[in-house]
Order: sequence, then C-alpha cells, then structure tokens
Amino acid sequence: MAASQADTSWFVQDRFGLFLHWGLYSLLARHEWVMNNESILPDDYRKKYLKRFDPDLYNPTVWADAAANAGMKYFVITTKHHEGFCLWDSKLTDFKATNTPASRDLIRPMIDAFRAKGFRTGLYHSLLDWSHPQYEVDEFNGPYAKKSQSERDALNVTRDHKKYIDYLHGQVRELLTDYGQIDLLWFDFSFKNKEGKGKGREHWGSEELVKMIRQLQPRVMVTDRLDLADQPVDFKTPEQATPRDWPTIDGQRVVWESCQTLSGSWGYHRDESSWRSTTQLVQTLIDCVSKGGNFLLNVGPTARGEFDARALDRLQGIGKWMHHHSRSIYGCTQAPPEFITPQDCRLTYNPVIRRLYLHLFAWPYKLVPLDGAFKGRVEYAQLLNDASEVGQIDGWHSQHFGSVENSMVLNLPQTKPDVAVPVVELFLKDE
Ligand code: GLC
Repeated sequence: MAASQADTSWFVQDRFGLFLHWGLYSLLARHEWVMNNESILPDDYRKKYLKRFDPDLYNPTVWADAAANAGMKYFVITTKHHEGFCLWDSKLTDFKATNTPASRDLIRPMIDAFRAKGFRTGLYHSLLDWSHPQYEVDEFNGPYAKKSQSERDALNVTRDHKKYIDYLHGQVRELLTDYGQIDLLWFDFSFKNKEGKGKGREHWGSEELVKMIRQLQPRVMVTDRLDLADQPVDFKTPEQATPRDWPTIDGQRVVWESCQTLSGSWGYHRDESSWRSTTQLVQTLIDCVSKGGNFLLNVGPTARGEFDARALDRLQGIGKWMHHHSRSIYGCTQAPPEFITPQDCRLTYNPVIRRLYLHLFAWPYKLVPLDGAFKGRVEYAQLLNDASEVGQIDGWHSQHFGSVENSMVLNLPQTKPDVAVPVVELFLKDE
C-alpha cells in the first residue's frame, strides 16, 4: 500500500468529533433516507420542500459552543446528502440553499463559526444523488429503486452518468477551492454486491477524483468509501458499530473512526424514541479510544436550525463527563498489550505522559485486581474526577482472587463517584 499524503496527526489526538446531517429531509423529520423509503420523486420533493426550508433560528456559533462544551474537536457537515440538495452556493446546480427562504450559503458561516473555536473542518459529500437528472438510477436505492427494471431502463436512456461524474468532481473542486483548508473529506458511499452490480469507483471516477483532491489539498483525509481498494486508505469508517479490535489492513493497524447516531436516524427524526443515554455515549467514546480509534457522534439539527432538546441534553451530559475526564481521551490510544484489561473495564493510554486510564463501566465492590504488567510499573493511582488517591492492598484479600502473586489490587471507595464512568489514572514509573 503506497503511503498517503494526508495529515492524520491532529485526528488521532482529537479523538472526538461532531457529525451533522442537515438538509431538506430535516423538514420531513423521518430519516434522511425518506426520499428512498417513500419513493418520493425528485420533482415532487423539490417542488414541495425547497420553498419551505427556512432555518430562521440558525446560528452556527450556538452549534459550535454546544459541540465545544461536549469536548468535540472537529466537525463534519453534510454539504450534500443522497437527496441531492446542496447547503452551499454551488455554481453547478440550482438545487441549493440560496434558492430556499434561507437564501444564502449555509456552509460558510458554519465553517467560520467552528474554526473560530479551534475546530478542524470536515465535509461529508454524498456520492449518490437521487435528484440529479443524469445520475443513472438503479435497483439498490433512491426514489426509483422500487420501480420495475424496464421503467428504470427507460429513464436511463436519457441519462448520461458521465455528466454526473463531471458534476460530482466539479462540486468537490468548488468545496476544496472556496473554503480554505479542509481537513477531512467524508465521501459516502459505494455499494456493489457479490456479482459486482451496484455502484463503485467507475461510477464516481474515484481515481481521477482522488488525483484532483491531492492536487488541490494534499493534506486532506479521505474516507474509505470510494471503492479504491488498491489506493492508500486514510481512515476506515465503521458505521453504527465499534469494532471488537483495532482495525487492520494487511495486518497493519489503520487510523479509524466510528460514526454513530444518538437515536437511529442521522437526519432529524421527530418521532424516534430510541435515544441512547449519556452513559452509553460516553462508554462508546471510551471504547473507541481504547482500540485506537475516534468517535464521530451525529446530531441532526431541525429545519429551523437548532439542535433539539434531546441532543442538547446528551451533549451537555457528555461535556460534564469530559470536563473531568478528557485527559483519558485526548492524545490517548490503546494500552500496550502487557497491561491486561480487567473485567467490565476499558484501558486507554497516553504514550507521551505515560499514564494509563482505567475506565470502570461497572462499579465493583472495592477491590479491582489488575493483572499483567501493572505490578511494579505503577507508581501512583488516583481517581481522575477529583484527584483523590487510590490505594493498593496486598495481603489476605488476595487469596480471594486466586493466584494473584503478580497482580496489583486497587482499593476503591465503596461508593461510586457521581460521574457517568469513573476513571482511575495510573502513573507509570520512569523506565
Ligand atoms: C450511510 C447512510 C447515510 C449516512 C451515513 C453516515 O451510509 O446512507 O444516511 O449519512 O451512513 O455514515
């Protein structure tokens, strides 16, 4: 695998980002795939909703504040999702924010507001486009997916997918030319089945696209969703799941990020009630970092331009935890293998200051035996939320843990600290 020129150094330090899915689907408020799910034809969709997109309460500084308080360090915004609607003032289409009541480029003020707070900038861009008149329709997704093959064939007679590829490349050129340094390009997605049917690199012109990207902004990170199997992958993007182990390619660990939702939908969904708790979300963040990865947590703002109360509640809760515990997240990664992770726990490690962080997903009754290299290597232990010393015990208790000659046993307070996930910070001795 050839080396990529992309700069991933900031990414593996920052660890926690905000994903934003915002578009016309926010008005329908029942999943960003609604156009596909309900087979709404592009003309009907555009006619009904373009004139209704009026985010009168939109203030990206408020969004950036909420994300910063949650401890997020970068953001990724959907410039265009599968529906085809563009949030910026693209010169290549009229299906865009400037032709809604918002009547302005909505991306620029967002980038400015987040950058002003020190965020890195990521742009999500859909490879699929269910509205573009030249996009070759298929049976896999989109408003025509449920039609018969002959109906699709008839539509495709007048479509020249190559023109769509030009459009795609032209829009990416705009995004990489007009908005300063872009740190991350989040392309989504390729879909080929086992028979090779579906859409992949030849439908996006992926090779040419990456060439152009590297000319315009050589340092930008690009997702692994362009179906470029033989090209360097800047980062892997497992979705709605945290891998069991640090992902590898050809046996080499790679940079990765898990993107996940607060409930089940990426776009604003009014009626969904399957929201995850703050503790679950904090645990997911920790779980990612403990396997050397990042967590990209999604918010779907409303069509009036706000984060709804449920999203704000979770972001505040995460922020409360991060206020005391971000030291176990930023700049951290998987612990060296000689430190064995105890039951119900996750370990992270900061290799620069050489501290281990023991995250306790379940609060034990006082004693936690640590196996492996801890004994003899740990000089000091404290709870991270209040820097209160955590003692160790030797002696008769050890017999209850079986053979523990080489274990170190932490002596925790009986009462769990009042935080979502308690963390013990372990200082290693100088080598
Ligand atoms: C999927 C979905 C999409 C969402 C994305 C985020 O590929 O098509 O709706 O934007 O995942 O990872």
